[in-house]
Amino acid sequence: MATYDIAVIPGDGIGKEVMDYGVKALQIGAEIHGGFSFEFQQFPWSCEYYQQHGKMMPSNGIEILNGFNAIFLGAVGLPALVPDHISLWGLLIEIRREMRQYINLRPVKQMRGVQSPLASPKDFDIVVVRENSEGEYSPIGGRMGHNENEIAIQNAVFTRKGVDRAVRYAFELAVKRDKKFLTSATKSNGIIHSMPFWDEVFHQVGQEYNHIIQQSTHIDALCAFFVTKPHTLDVVVASNLFGDILTDLGAAIMGSIGIAPSANINPEKKYPSMFEPVHGSAPDIYGKGIANPIGQIWSAKMMLDFFGYEEIGHLLLEAIEDTLEQGIATPDLKGTSSTSEVGEAILGTFKKKQK
Ligand code: NAI
Ligand code: MG
Repeated sequence: MATYDIAVIPGDGIGKEVMDYGVKALQIGAEIHGGFSFEFQQFPWSCEYYQQHGKMMPSNGIEILNGFNAIFLGAVGLPALVPDHISLWGLLIEIRREMRQYINLRPVKQMRGVQSPLASPKDFDIVVVRENSEGEYSPIGGRMGHNENEIAIQNAVFTRKGVDRAVRYAFELAVKRDKKFLTSATKSNGIIHSMPFWDEVFHQVGQEYNHIIQQSTHIDALCAFFVTKPHTLDVVVASNLFGDILTDLGAAIMGSIGIAPSANINPEKKYPSMFEPVHGSAPDIYGKGIANPIGQIWSAKMMLDFFGYEEIGHLLLEAIEDTLEQGIATPDLKGTSSTSEVGEAILGTFKKKQK
């Protein structure tokens, strides 16, 4: 029987409140299937860890994680303890890059039982493929000068290899889906070097996928389309920053950032992939017991899919939607239930599902 070793990093804030439900969902998934199991090992790497050790994870942290089949992360960052750029680059971005998780998959889907804030949305089902290893998130640049003469320079890095593999992944995903339609997020009118290059690679790779409908859309217009006509979109490929912003908007049209999941994928499976909700540590609600656990649980579904148990993943998503349809929801979805009430209801519904 296959056993998957999972490194669990709850992290900071509400990450510590929602993680348990994600882990239990994985365990129940394995029980329903009967043909595989999970082994979990938890790590305390977080801003509190930083306060004690001066770093977000031990210097051999990447080496330790490399021994696992996947990483399950809650959220990282507590700006009151550690500046965000230190906590993010010291753990999350470090893992994404060192583990070559160059694809970040983020579904944006209308959920049964959730009222989208859009006035009269038609059924939408989008997957954003975010380039996850380079682009605008770059350590290159610097600051100089003082006061009115101060200058900050931030260089974006786009490589042919990096853009090609992200775009190719998105085309392959579009091939597997019904609409066979890929939109590339660009801004080649304003960003005159990297974005025309991005468009060029998109066009070149696209010639190998003639049967896929393909378009380049400026990111500003695309943001508007997420609001005005999300049902017309299918797969969207975007650079690191564009994909990040677009998927918070995606989470908002789904109903709440608290339900959005993501998967950081190393497609070659040479390194472990990492599954985590889109949301952060939400310091404003931490400790109140009202964090929505669905982003974490849906991320567990993405892990099940990744290991090839898509039928189990499908049942888990059904359990989430069944629960929402019963009106069991946290305050971010205008419900009155707590984290544990929503979490337990979903797990209970999932348990009753038969393969
Ligand atoms: P955030 O996602 O933590 O919170 C934004 C808003 O959404 C807040 O009002 C929060 O209460 C609400 N929210 C988020 N998740 C929720 C959930 N599960 N249930 C109910 N409401 C939820 O983003 P913010 O405030 O910009 O960042 C807070 C910290 O998290 C920062 O340190 C930031 O760097 C970090 N962060 C970490 C991420 C990660 O680990 N992947 C992603 C985004 C932010
Ligand atoms: Mg974000």
